[in-house]
Amino acid sequence: MQIFIDTANLDEIREAHSWGIIDGCTTNPSLIAREGRDFAETIHEICEIVQGPVSAEVVAQDHEGMMREARLLRQIHEHVVIKVPLTTAGIQTCKALSTEGTRVNVTLCFSVNQALLAAKAGATYISPFIGRIDDTGHDGTELIADIVQVYENYFFDTKVLAASIRHTKHVFDVSRMGAHVSTMPFKVIKAMFGHPLTDKGNAGFMADWAKVGEGVEETAQRFLDRRKG
Ligand code: E4P
Repeated sequence: MQIFIDTANLDEIREAHSWGIIDGCTTNPSLIAREGRDFAETIHEICEIVQGPVSAEVVAQDHEGMMREARLLRQIHEHVVIKVPLTTAGIQTCKALSTEGTRVNVTLCFSVNQALLAAKAGATYISPFIGRIDDTGHDGTELIADIVQVYENYFFDTKVLAASIRHTKHVFDVSRMGAHVSTMPFKVIKAMFGHPLTDKGNAGFMADWAKVGEGVEETAQRFLDRRKG
């Protein structure tokens, strides 16, 4: 499963990218507005850092407007993926852009039927929002399993990008259900590293190693020098 970071915050993106486990980035109008920076400049900088797919969302609500925005946005950087909402105009735009060879992420998906429409329109990614489904009292992760199954039934190439991830259990669940990508906030990526037994085990190893009385570098270098002659 690929891991995308769901933010427009450059510091978070730089730090997570330095860990070597980020495959791409998703933004949306709310995330962009939160940073208070120029949209196009921000998208370009994210692409330069991530060197992988970066979703930039159109805000026009009609097909012609979406096409105009998308045709400019895609020129910002080769890694830009155009994000469109799952509306009639969004699906129409997805079809037109995918026909032109532009990658499209169809966002705000809340049902299998919507996911079918996006796949038919040639979407590269479909983004079901699992946290927001959970908020309505239903199980968002079940939608991931259903879409993965339906796409497999009909050999669609569209990748299921689990979005609106709120915590590490969501990540575990969608990975078991076969999501191709999961996009998550910085804090969730950070939390994935943590386990109390890792911390405890590491502390135990360090305490025992202190009894050895020298560093790994010293002993390894001594060994290598001896071998050299
Ligand atoms: C995904 O592309 C969206 O930007 C994001 O996951 C939405 O998450 P939220 O429901 O936490 O706003």
